Amino acid sequence: MSADLPDPALVVLVGPSGSGKSTWAQGRYRAAEIVSSDALRSVVGSGEHDLDASVEAFALLEQIVAARLRRRLTTVIDTLGSDASRRLGWLASAREAGLPAVAVVLDTPAAVCRERNAARDRPVPASVLAGQLSAHAATRPQLDEEGWDAVVDMAADVTSEARVVAAPRAARAPGAESTLRDGVVLQLSRFPAEVDLLPWLREVAGAAEEVGFAGIALMDHLIQIPQVGRAWDPMPEPWVTLGALAASTTRLQLGTLVSPVTFRSPGITAKAAATLSTLSGGRAFVGVGAGWWEREHAAYGLEFPPAATRLDALERAIETMKALWSPGTKPYAGQHVSLPETTCYPRPVGEIPVVVGGGGARTLRIAARLGDGCNVPSDDAGLEKVAIYLELVGAAGRRVEDVHATVLDLPLVGRDRDDTWRRVEALRRRTAAATFAARHHAGTAREHAERLAGLARHGVSTVFVSPLDLAGADDVHALGPIATALR
Ligand code: UTP
Ligand code: MG
Repeated sequence: MSADLPDPALVVLVGPSGSGKSTWAQGRYRAAEIVSSDALRSVVGSGEHDLDASVEAFALLEQIVAARLRRRLTTVIDTLGSDASRRLGWLASAREAGLPAVAVVLDTPAAVCRERNAARDRPVPASVLAGQLSAHAATRPQLDEEGWDAVVDMAADVTSEARVVAAPRAARAPGAESTLRDGVVLQLSRFPAEVDLLPWLREVAGAAEEVGFAGIALMDHLIQIPQVGRAWDPMPEPWVTLGALAASTTRLQLGTLVSPVTFRSPGITAKAAATLSTLSGGRAFVGVGAGWWEREHAAYGLEFPPAATRLDALERAIETMKALWSPGTKPYAGQHVSLPETTCYPRPVGEIPVVVGGGGARTLRIAARLGDGCNVPSDDAGLEKVAIYLELVGAAGRRVEDVHATVLDLPLVGRDRDDTWRRVEALRRRTAAATFAARHHAGTAREHAERLAGLARHGVSTVFVSPLDLAGADDVHALGPIATALR
């Protein structure tokens, strides 16, 4: 997909025979997204060139275009594009559906069109092509007046590769020295039931290290959450699992996203994280949050107090962990916590960053005052919270360079456009395909990488990425551009 065209969108091709319209479309879009008058002639007639079938072919084309646009599905109309009233009708349908509409003009020199036409099995008669060429010259200026969101001129021999814009490099916060490196961390939230967990984890972690992820984060739940899978799907305890990952990796940062403070006394989490830090040579981080899912608490015999109480516990948890990780064994008397001694050996290697998950007003204040980072969703509302968080960090007298503004991104990643839409179909359940695709930015790893790199402009320093249907190491190997998107 050309990086500079909107998607989903209505794309209307404009160009004479042999200008390369079909070739251009087929190189970028799925077959089902291209509505071609030639192809429909062969559906209702004897073949692509059966002009007797034109009326019915165009009637079908109009019906297909209308149905797809109503569903907000990308629709590429492959006709000569020379009929102004049809063009304006398609444009109006796109507007009605709220889809951007672009005209793509194949600006191929007349001589090249003639040459290609002559080389075809069934050339268009020379006089017909001449008529198309002069009509095309007249059409081009009209397009600028018609109200398209963009009129894109494609040069004759531009390949799809040449037009892919390189991902912009993210500006990195300078001098932030911490064990949570800026970058993209792979969050694992679903685990296989049919294969052995340890070799699966080793392969996934090995692949993540190979393609350049900054780390791996594990979800911390006692029962698989309904947003991700079924209650009986495997949900391993994360600190034990991170220990296994520490043994099979050498570079990845390792931590949770996020551990509810309702699960473990904070001193126990501090102990687990300090041990992980030791075992991994200083690669541990801790995600903490107030917890939200009552069911898993009830099932495991844990208290689930009201939100305000849980947020009090969040404050105490961060203070307790930081106190236990600090040098020596001295007593600690803080704002919310007092400890008679802080004896925690083995000592963590370096600092253990604490990322606070959640976007509530008080959660952000706690993150800014006591934590080393925040974690919010990567959508527009989340990015607004990143801005609020960074302001709160400043207001707390801290430097934004010293904290981690992190977001959680749930991309649908396909190997190519066809595979992407196969996955959309497999995962969307009752959500409309276009809505689901938009929500998860359905696209290839390269397309996601461009998008994620753009998050740096909002002050995001780390992206936790949790691909929707990540099944194993093969899928991780295909995430290379995402893994290095913030470098
Ligand atoms: P297309 O079949 O893509 O042209 O290319 P078109 O605009 O859709 O033509 P009509 O309107 O359906 O008749 C025409 C020929 O030119 C070659 C294609 O392989 C095809 O044989 N072509 C196209 C190239 O050699 N290079 C290109 O960049 C594009
Ligand atoms: Mg064609």
